[in-house]
Amino acid sequence: MLDERRNDFERNGYLVLPGFVSSDACDALQDRMREMVEAFEPGDVATIFSTTEKNHAQDAYFLESGDKIRFFFEEEAFDNRGQLRQSKSASINKVGHALHDLDPVFDRFSRNAALAELAIAVGINRPLLLQSMYIFKQPRIGGEVICHQDATFLHTEPVSVVGFWFALEDATKENGCLWAAPGGHLGSLRSRFVRNGNKTELVTLDQSPLPTEGLEPIEVERGSLVLLHGLLPHWSAPNRSSSSRHAYALHVIDGDTDYSSDNWLKRADDLPLRGF
Ligand code: FE2
Repeated sequence: MLDERRNDFERNGYLVLPGFVSSDACDALQDRMREMVEAFEPGDVATIFSTTEKNHAQDAYFLESGDKIRFFFEEEAFDNRGQLRQSKSASINKVGHALHDLDPVFDRFSRNAALAELAIAVGINRPLLLQSMYIFKQPRIGGEVICHQDATFLHTEPVSVVGFWFALEDATKENGCLWAAPGGHLGSLRSRFVRNGNKTELVTLDQSPLPTEGLEPIEVERGSLVLLHGLLPHWSAPNRSSSSRHAYALHVIDGDTDYSSDNWLKRADDLPLRGF
């Protein structure tokens, strides 16, 4: 069974595992996040998050979030007077990036024997949980995530990052499911998002464009787990539907590789990376 999964993952660059997570476990994570959002005061850290906006990448709020729990807003969450168009809870794009280490409920969800076994099955020798994100993909205003490879943002030498993407709600073409190019992970890494102090830049490594055709929708039911190879080109469309598309994404690297020191994501020495 695990070998079959490995074959699929190696051939397509992604693997869909329906029903991997129980409904109760999805509920627990969603309930916990609801509490966290209610407790969060946006104040002057109401940073608009958008992968299409370069300014954001230079925002210290984002760059310091690797070992914290921080809240990022949808690009279209604010009107031109800077007021939220919808309630706070309907305006958040995502929360990241150390939920798995700092919150007990997320820690529990993110670490178990089944995930450890899966990581080994897809070739990660010494898994380390690097980054976690709760993604809301809000109804009507949930923004597009442009086509990218995760290794652009989370780089090791050699490339080892694998995304563990949990559907906490059904993901459909209507509400902005993932799309990926099967086999696209066999291509090169096109770019790296590198950090120099508080500045970041996207450095091109290979001019060949990421595919714009041949991408397939990954429509999955609540409780599904999708594994994404770090070189797999993938994207998600804006959500113009009336239903949200909550997901939890965990990015895992292999501790036997070298973590690139110019990655954006830095961790404090007193919060070392841990495995499953
Ligand atoms: Fe991604």
